[in-house]
Amino acid sequence: MTSLWVDTQAPAQSDAFVADAEYDAVIVGAGLTGLVTALLLARSGMRVAVLEARTVGAVTTGHTTAKLSLLQGSVLSGIRQHNSHEVLRAYVDGNREGQAWMLRYLDERGVDYQRRDAYTYANTADGRARLEEEQAVGHAAGLATELTEDVALPFETRGALLLRDQAQFNPMHVLAALVDDVRRHGGVIIEGARVHDVDASDPAIVTTQRGSVRAAQVILATGTPILDRGLYFAKLIPSRSYVSAYRVPGAPEAIPQGMYLSIDSPSRSLRTVPVGAEELLLVGGNGHPVGRNPHTAQSVDDLDIWTRAQFPGAQRTHSWSAQDYQSVNMVPFVGWFPRGRGRIFVATGYNKWGMTNATAAALSLSGEILGGRMAWADVLHHRVSRPASFLTAAKAGAEVAAWAAKRWADAETTGEDLFEVRADAPAEGRGRVTHEGLRPVGVSTVDGVTCAVSAVCTHLRGVLGWNETERSWDCPLHGSRFAADGTLLEGPATEDLAVID
Ligand SMILES: Cc1cc2nc3c(=O)[nH]c(=O)nc-3n(C[C@H](O)[C@H](O)[C@H](O)COP(=O)(O)OP(=O)(O)OC[C@H]3O[C@@H](n4cnc5c(N)ncnc54)[C@H](O)[C@@H]3O)c2cc1C
Ligand code: FES
Repeated sequence: MTSLWVDTQAPAQSDAFVADAEYDAVIVGAGLTGLVTALLLARSGMRVAVLEARTVGAVTTGHTTAKLSLLQGSVLSGIRQHNSHEVLRAYVDGNREGQAWMLRYLDERGVDYQRRDAYTYANTADGRARLEEEQAVGHAAGLATELTEDVALPFETRGALLLRDQAQFNPMHVLAALVDDVRRHGGVIIEGARVHDVDASDPAIVTTQRGSVRAAQVILATGTPILDRGLYFAKLIPSRSYVSAYRVPGAPEAIPQGMYLSIDSPSRSLRTVPVGAEELLLVGGNGHPVGRNPHTAQSVDDLDIWTRAQFPGAQRTHSWSAQDYQSVNMVPFVGWFPRGRGRIFVATGYNKWGMTNATAAALSLSGEILGGRMAWADVLHHRVSRPASFLTAAKAGAEVAAWAAKRWADAETTGEDLFEVRADAPAEGRGRVTHEGLRPVGVSTVDGVTCAVSAVCTHLRGVLGWNETERSWDCPLHGSRFAADGTLLEGPATEDLAVID
């Protein structure tokens, strides 16, 4: 499902891949993290290449809701549970600097954005108590939020936390400006170049399916890291959620002009989007761990039902879903990659707040590489994990193990034999896991074509499940996703699924 942003933006042109080329820095991934980092390094005179497996913005940045906000639901209370006050303060300072950098950049480049007040609202008494806690934690970290009963939503709430003068934008417009700027500073952006491995030799060797290039520094800006040696896949929780755009009768007056997020479940995220002369309403929510929801179509329908109840006559124009990664201690992982010999860097774990966090990560990484120092970045780099984070990691690990066992057992015991499926191909848009001997096989029909692929994830052998809305094979362990024909879409895996003849 294509987002409104990707649907309305002309695709970027790719630069040529030159095998054996040597760069000062190779950035892997052309989302917001990769492109801001590339620009900061290129501006300082480094020769940079961005290697992108798919196309610019193809994964999370092109499918976000793009609120550039320091008010982030209940994130600050979550961070405080897992970290010291100093780390919380550094997180807020880093996000503030990321936001300020981005706003300055948008002004300089004349990229359109809208200033908006941000609200986190409650529907329940428990939600209200959590708002008050978030306010107290935020105040201690220097965030000037207000509690308000004046929420300006067309349904009843238990009040909201308000932070004035935040911002929202079209993420593909921002990426387009960054692409242009990286090139003006001598950088290249190469699409369709999937990195399979990085050797931390001097210089580092970056291997893609099209050949290798060399670089003094390599930055993994791939959403979730693609190299397993840092074990990040075990410290990140992938979560997928849904976004739809609506034309609402009587807009713009009939749609709330702030940026909203509910603190209670199911989550609801709202913002406006100017498109030509009209203004649409975006509604997001219904997040779940990647690959573990067998009824994704219901998540989309549920958003529709809710939106039409609150905004009668709303008509859906676009609908999409995307995923992001929460670190087990709630603070992004940004900095040196373990065993990367100081040549490989990583940025991940923005927990659905990447517009400020990706920019902060780019500032932090470029500071690290170019020799600048920011007090907040130092504190975040040197934070130590607390028992609460080990518990979260253990719980996430136990869930992963349970899903791994369950899916293998299901594939072996309840899946039909591939031979039977030959006579009864799945209906259009459907997919199911069957088996050939002991090997789980995914069979699906998309656009009239029936494909059989290995249903075993190429990352660490999770058994995949069919995602009926995205028509993809999704892994319940660490979030890798594959198209019906086996092509890798996203996640820590780096190889496509084997096609079964
Ligand atoms: C539904 C949803 C709503 C959100 N809303 C907000 C919001 O309102 N505000 C906010 O601040 N944040 C929000 N976020 C979070 C934010 O969108 C993300 O944190 C951010 O976009 C991540 O950017 P990134 O550059 O790190 O990753 P991505 O945009 O995913 O970029 C990573 C790139 O790396 C490429 N790649 C991966 N593997 C390889 C490889 N092996 N070789 C080469 N390239 C590779 C991918 O193809 C991809 O293009 C939201 C997230 C979701 C899922
Ligand atoms: S993503 Fe790790 S096993 Fe599938």
